[in-house]
Amino acid sequence: MVNTRSRRSWRCRDGQHRLCIFMAKKETPVLLQVPTHVAIIMDGNGRWALSRGLPRLAGHRAGTENLRRIIRACVEFGIKYLTIYAFSTENWGRPREEVDGLMHILEDVIDKELAELNNEGVQLRHIGHLERLDPKLQEKVLEAIDLTKDNNRLILNVAFNYGGRDEIICAIQRIITDGVNPDAVDSDLVSKYLFTAGVPDPDLIIRTSGELRVSNFLIWQGAYSEWYVTSVYWPDFTKEEFRKALDTYALRDRRYGGLSSTPEDNPAHVD
Ligand code: FPP
Repeated sequence: MVNTRSRRSWRCRDGQHRLCIFMAKKETPVLLQVPTHVAIIMDGNGRWALSRGLPRLAGHRAGTENLRRIIRACVEFGIKYLTIYAFSTENWGRPREEVDGLMHILEDVIDKELAELNNEGVQLRHIGHLERLDPKLQEKVLEAIDLTKDNNRLILNVAFNYGGRDEIICAIQRIITDGVNPDAVDSDLVSKYLFTAGVPDPDLIIRTSGELRVSNFLIWQGAYSEWYVTSVYWPDFTKEEFRKALDTYALRDRRYGGLSSTPEDNPAHVD
């Protein structure tokens, strides 16, 4: 198979030019700028089900099927970390049937998908609190984490009973308990006390179903993440839709509050 490289420049909305290198394998172009860490708010399961006259849980099940496809796509696209928002600290407020159903889905995913995920080199991690879950389910999650701990093709962080504010509160409590000198508290130190310690901040956060909210998801880690919001409901967020998000990401100019890093866009950077 012949690989060809091409350089393409374009003008962004801010009027500046960007340059990107693409590699083409026959007709399938491969973007070289791939985010290391993608985080997803898998929203719209309920509306997906409602629009088909189905119960909400059918939407969550369809969303689970889709998750399997997106995990595969992550491996294929070379993404190293995927964080998914599966159950928030606020989701306990949903009807009992739906909460139980989501717990059952987590159990089902471990029972039915773990062996394959393990074979594919996926490492499972959990962020959030396990304590409120049924002890048997907690045990299953811990076993899955242990089984896959040496895998490194894709790190899959499952945010389950997770809330960003809760995570920061826990970090503050532990920093105080550890007797850390206030002068030693900086951004790096706080990051080390979060559930995501050791995981790079998400480069790209995707939210499906069109809502323009952060919803208590990775509120510390997402400080400089790029966002991609689509009106597509999560069960319909196919690999092709995912690819659109990655294409969009590849064109973003991440300045982190500074100036563009490309010399042609920023004469101040030219020696
Ligand atoms: C938000 O859609 C989705 C959730 C609260 C749950 C997401 C869970 C899955 C996709 C299942 C995968 C789970 C595990 C444990 C791996 P919504 O119900 O708020 O949708 P709506 O806004 O249309 O009502």
